[in-house]
Amino acid sequence: MEQVTERLCRYKNSTFPVGYTTPEYIDSLQGFEVRDSDVFLVTYPKSGTIWVQQVVISICELAGGLNQFPNNFVQMPWLEYNEEWDYASRPSPRLFSSHLFPALMPLGLKEKKAKIIYVTRNPKDNITSFYHFSREFTDLDAPETFETFLEQYLKGNVLGGSWFDHIREWHQNKDQYSVLMLSYEDMVLNLREGVKKICGFLGKSLSDADVDKVVEKSTFKNMKKDTKANYEFLPKEKVRGNFMRKGQIGDWKNVFSPEQSRRIDRLIEEKLGHLGLNFVWE
Ligand code: A3P
Repeated sequence: MEQVTERLCRYKNSTFPVGYTTPEYIDSLQGFEVRDSDVFLVTYPKSGTIWVQQVVISICELAGGLNQFPNNFVQMPWLEYNEEWDYASRPSPRLFSSHLFPALMPLGLKEKKAKIIYVTRNPKDNITSFYHFSREFTDLDAPETFETFLEQYLKGNVLGGSWFDHIREWHQNKDQYSVLMLSYEDMVLNLREGVKKICGFLGKSLSDADVDKVVEKSTFKNMKKDTKANYEFLPKEKVRGNFMRKGQIGDWKNVFSPEQSRRIDRLIEEKLGHLGLNFVWE
């Protein structure tokens, strides 16, 4: 692992908090035995991971057969952090989260049996959310100012690596996987539609009343109160603030200068223009 900042180290383009994982463990994931019923939620950090965790877990619970774990972190753990949990003996369906690049994911996923949900968020809100979180999560480097955080982010020296590389790699390689591409903004604008899309993709047919229940459990207000879902179960000395912060589109306008905003626009065009992506900014 190459140490990139005081708290972060890099391995093959992905960036991890020091002590969370090892190169050997990351390499071992290539041979991770994938089951057809596995679901992998993949995101760049601060794109709505814990939100979609709640949706997927709620759907699987209502569709029946989900083994209960004490909270969403244990129910849908991050694959790359070496928690030494025995995944081989977990009952199906197993649910995983990940911030990894496609090249580091289990090779068995390319057989297109297990399912991947990839969630993106517009980069200005992603940066804003990440900036606030970095000041509150003690395993990350606390930025002195928004300007310093932005520079670190644009160099890829933040948890997860480069946002631009992550988006590009996943979009360019998506045809190799059975993947549903979702956006945070689509979920904010129409959560019910997002829930139904995920149900359809996972092959779970829920009644309208059950879809309503999933939506209810996954609203910002209700998740904030849900002790299994709001991540307040993490040790207080690790998280000084909230995973559930604002949950909005457009908060970037409170921190970005017009020039910083134009800089992101230029970088999107330069680095991702060929993908023809559209982002919702407000
Ligand atoms: P903000 O910091 O902009 O509020 P991740 O889970 O990938 O770390 O992403 C965290 C972001 O998702 C935070 O964004 C958080 O508030 C938002 N989020 C979590 N649950 C949400 C929900 N139910 N509705 C809307 N946003 C949610």
